[in-house]
Amino acid sequence: MNQLEQVKQFLETQPANHRVVEMILDEKKVWVKRKQPLENWRDYYKVIVTPGLKREIKALQLLNRQQLPVPKLIVYCDEFFASEDSGQALPRYLDENSLDLTQRERVFYQAGYALAQMHQQGFAHGRPALRDICWDEHKITFIDFEMHSGKPCSAWDQSIDLLIFLHGLYYSLEDGAPEANAAIQGYIDNQGYTRFTKLQKKVAHFAWVLPLLDKLKGIAGRDLRQATPALKLMLKNWS
Ligand SMILES: Nc1ncnc2c1ncn2[C@@H]1O[C@H](COP(=O)(O)OP(=O)(O)O)[C@@H](O)[C@H]1O
Ligand SMILES: [Mg+2]
Repeated sequence: MNQLEQVKQFLETQPANHRVVEMILDEKKVWVKRKQPLENWRDYYKVIVTPGLKREIKALQLLNRQQLPVPKLIVYCDEFFASEDSGQALPRYLDENSLDLTQRERVFYQAGYALAQMHQQGFAHGRPALRDICWDEHKITFIDFEMHSGKPCSAWDQSIDLLIFLHGLYYSLEDGAPEANAAIQGYIDNQGYTRFTKLQKKVAHFAWVLPLLDKLKGIAGRDLRQATPALKLMLKNWS
């Protein structure tokens, strides 16, 4: 039986609402992502606001061709795709407290380095939340390209990428300054200094919200509160 058939048969054994599942395919762990099932109004909403599976397959094909840090696409069709296992998503490591500070700094340095690689070649992830960044003890891989535009992007897209990434970091690690500094250092070290200063200029357009965020900090949720250190770090002088 070919791999496509094997995945199809496996999916038939899985509950329909399990959209992303892992399986062993030819002795290797892979992740299978299928079309959003339409069971309630939230599913319909998700289908309307996110471009969906086809777009993600296209993005993965494109980024695979550029040899960027994304999982290899193994098989795909209109209903699903299977991609190579890329290790665990970063929040798992943080929740389990399985890494000490030095290891966390190393992982985030690598994440910044990998994001710079993507940006250097003219792409952006679109929404690099920590749950969409995997680590397999050796390398960083970005997953979940539903929000990817499918084409090269602008400096705006890349600055938003960096802000979302840093915000996710500070959201998960309230005292995440060392890890965040390591991430930016990784970004800069990957031939990223000039690009970074360009992105800083874009982010500077948002600097006016800082006093407002400061006023709101007593009543704001963690989500909003953690935007402040992310913005401040982006605006710091890195020379
Ligand atoms: N190739 C992969 N390698 C490792 N984990 C993966 C992979 N693909 C998906 N996952 C896991 O499944 C989760 C959901 O997949 P994702 O593509 O992000 O779908 P969703 O649109 O539901 O966020 C991820 O956060 C990650 O934990
Ligand atoms: Mg995701």
